[in-house]
Amino acid sequence: MNQKIRIFKDGPQIAAAFTEVFAKKIELIVEEQPDVKVAISGGSTPRIWFNYLVNHFKDKLPWSKLHFYWVDERCVPPDDEQSNYGMTYTHLLHQIEIPEENVHRVRGEDDPETEAERYGQLIKQNLPDRQGWPKFDVIILGMGDDGHTASIFPDQLPLLESEKVCAVGVHPDSGQKRITLTGKVINQADWIAFMVTGQGKSEMVAKIVNQEPDSVKYPARHIVPEHGFLEWYLDEAAATKLN
Ligand code: 6PG
Repeated sequence: MNQKIRIFKDGPQIAAAFTEVFAKKIELIVEEQPDVKVAISGGSTPRIWFNYLVNHFKDKLPWSKLHFYWVDERCVPPDDEQSNYGMTYTHLLHQIEIPEENVHRVRGEDDPETEAERYGQLIKQNLPDRQGWPKFDVIILGMGDDGHTASIFPDQLPLLESEKVCAVGVHPDSGQKRITLTGKVINQADWIAFMVTGQGKSEMVAKIVNQEPDSVKYPARHIVPEHGFLEWYLDEAAATKLN
């Protein structure tokens, strides 16, 4: 698999290194196409990156050429503290000059199945197609210590092969419904970057990055870009068990 492992002292150093690459890639992409389609994850790790962008790149990125989509969203209203959009708005969106029409949030407040269909259609409409799947330029993923990514959990592996662009996942502990990109869309992206930090994830990171035999039980192991490039941005704590 075409993957690169990058290890840094801590989250802020991951954010700095990732942003340098992100900024350069955007420069290249906008020479070829009008804008850049980026899918971002929720949870706590992306906040580190958002804070870095606001503090160091607020006026250095062509925000009007960036279109933000979500990898997944909890089925809650945008003002709910669980909302990935809400978190992104607080930590990034309302602090940068990005046009409203460039922010494509999932409507977590709507009926999950209806919204999964709507969001999938929106993505199909707005993105170029490769081998029958919409192609993101960049997808930023997190990973749970259970090996889930996006909102594809170990007990819902079929979402990796779904024929839909978006589907409804269910958090195995809370039962919370979530709208998620499915495996084939994620793997069609040109550049996929996992951002994973913390000792608590080191076991799972080692299983997946070292491609241990039993790692096929975990969704993150099935993130294998068809044509694109996969990078792992890890802090030292998450990387302690790597070969
Ligand atoms: C979400 C995310 C989810 C996240 C992982 C890691 O909606 O929670 O999309 O897949 O990336 O759970 O979360 P942390 O970054 O908070 O560890």
